[in-house]
Amino acid sequence: MSPRLRSGQGPRQARSAGIAPRAESLREQIEEANYRYYVLDDPQITDAEFDALLHELIELENAHPELRTPDSPTQRVGAIASERFAPFEHARPMLSLANAVTSDELRAFDERARKAAGTSRVAYVCELKIDGLAVALDYRNGSLARGGTRGDGRIGEDVTANLRTVKTIPLRLRVPASVEARGEVYLRKTDFERLNAAREHEGLPVFANPRNAASGGVRQLDPALTAQRRLSFFAYQLVSDEGLRTQWEALRRLAALGLPVNPNVARAEALEDVLAYCRRWEERRDDLDYEIDGVVVKVDDFALQERLGVVARDPRWAIAFKFKPREARTKLLDIAVSVGRTGTLNPNAVLKPVQIGGVTVKSATLHNIDYIKSNDIRIGDTVLVTRAGDVIPRVVGPVLVERTGKEHRFRMPDRCPVCGADVDHPPGEAMSRCTNAACPAQVYERVRHFASRGAMDMEGLGDVMAQQLTDLGLVRDIADIYKLDRAALERVPRMGPKSVENLLRNIERSKQRGLARLLYGLGIRFVGTQTSAILAGDFGTIDAIAEASESELQRSEGIGPEVAGSVALFFKQAANGEMIARLKHAGVDTTAPKRPRAAEGKLTGKTFVLTGTLENLTREEAMQLIVRAGGKVTGSVSKKTDYVVAGADPGSKLTKAESLGIPVMDEVGLRKLLR
Ligand code: IVH
Repeated sequence: MSPRLRSGQGPRQARSAGIAPRAESLREQIEEANYRYYVLDDPQITDAEFDALLHELIELENAHPELRTPDSPTQRVGAIASERFAPFEHARPMLSLANAVTSDELRAFDERARKAAGTSRVAYVCELKIDGLAVALDYRNGSLARGGTRGDGRIGEDVTANLRTVKTIPLRLRVPASVEARGEVYLRKTDFERLNAAREHEGLPVFANPRNAASGGVRQLDPALTAQRRLSFFAYQLVSDEGLRTQWEALRRLAALGLPVNPNVARAEALEDVLAYCRRWEERRDDLDYEIDGVVVKVDDFALQERLGVVARDPRWAIAFKFKPREARTKLLDIAVSVGRTGTLNPNAVLKPVQIGGVTVKSATLHNIDYIKSNDIRIGDTVLVTRAGDVIPRVVGPVLVERTGKEHRFRMPDRCPVCGADVDHPPGEAMSRCTNAACPAQVYERVRHFASRGAMDMEGLGDVMAQQLTDLGLVRDIADIYKLDRAALERVPRMGPKSVENLLRNIERSKQRGLARLLYGLGIRFVGTQTSAILAGDFGTIDAIAEASESELQRSEGIGPEVAGSVALFFKQAANGEMIARLKHAGVDTTAPKRPRAAEGKLTGKTFVLTGTLENLTREEAMQLIVRAGGKVTGSVSKKTDYVVAGADPGSKLTKAESLGIPVMDEVGLRKLLR
């Protein structure tokens, strides 16, 4: 699935050279790929390419055993453990799985199992193959004692402090059992999108897929950074001496212990049920909020599992049915630049059309210029493209072996491709911007956003209509929408009297959506639905927000200097003030029921920073307690911080607090303050 390394040599090369040098070259490439994949989290070839290298090496070594070296990658189960963490030794090896890609391979697997069982049918458990990172959790007397990654299957990395920040990993089981639970740490698609959007804002490199982000998250040196990734977990294996007899029982036991088990597991009476399950989930994978790359089929009966045993690196009682890959190679024909709502210039890949998982992909995101540069993507390159779920297709990187030298580097234009105005390339920022607020591309994006469902919800004013209204010059800013009348709309091609009536009625209705939706609809940078709702509730009218100073804005929950600055900047522009006056004049409701502020309380005026894992409170709960008492929680420690609340395994924030002499307390201390 995921890419591993942009190797210097493909398997096609060096064939004519001697066998020994080829084996050595394969070893080097595999080592390098593993290093990039597991240690750097910056993989650059696909799993399929990696497998091809590994298989070639295995075959070479099988044919010429004298070439096999003790340090060959074929001599270990998989990855290498990074040296940043203490080793985590697995009492029982964490195995990997053999793959099946066709139903015939599943049939062959079933045949072997039936033969070993001596029965005509074998029951299986079917589980989704979650695309994340395998970890082992060691519980002693019900309490999470240690957690580690899989590593090479024998020794992984001790990432206990990081795993403690994963909300769905219980720190305490519902029963004081001593067991080891194994499962997958993963990142939800929605959390992945949010993470990448935030990184893009900050000019940080974005992750190619949720798996990389999850795996990098688990291996952060500062657990606070792991916590920010919002990782999730599903348990799928129980190692215990509780006398369980089947995998199905084990899953039930995991759930009873309070561990999250994927709700889509199923017991299959025989192979036909397995095949149906695989077919169903290959079709429905996009319905899930997490990535799956296949189905894991496990023999249900543990006694039979034992009999089937393990061969080399794979158990014979389980197999991974891999879905069709959702990545492909194609030619990057060009890089087109579009202009976003806030004037950002967005580079988009123009691709030679290619089928990926049943969909024709012709374009993909390239994020920003930094992404293009850091991945060395050039026009004319053969590139690797992935399409993950409903997420927009993305160009992962160039396939370097395919380079001919005719490719050329892309440069962001200095003039807006739509209106020709100057482009601003702020130093240190990933995004370039068109400087003309009246740029038709910006107007179109703003109108489209304003009319969209989450904002003013004007049915009938979708992408096409927004484009036509701006192209015809009927709408030059969002307030112009409310000036539209029958005569104007009749000028729009293919608008019949009925559609005109409907649209006018929907525009009229939108006036009553209230301040929160209006504020969101204005498309102010960093102001999403949640921030809009908070500001609307706290301030009550658009005028109050417009007049608020940055520090007053920052008194609202979750509003930091960046958001406050952006809001203040928006209202400072004379053109925006004038536009809002016209909205009001048109009868748009610019008020919201005002919510009394958390206001006066024990912690009024006090700023807190939370770090580490608290004993009984989740971070959200602690935050709520503080905010309800009138206090504020911010993300980083500064001289303005009044208190730091530190739990287990605190991050660098604690060190900083200590160096600044800021009082540090634990959960008990916080509760005392609140009393
Ligand atoms: S069972 C011997 N079950 O897939 C059993 N693995 O190559 C080994 N995975 O490393 C694992 N979902 O990271 C199992 N429901 C599931 C899984 C699963 C994802 C991953 C896991 C493992 C890899 C197998």
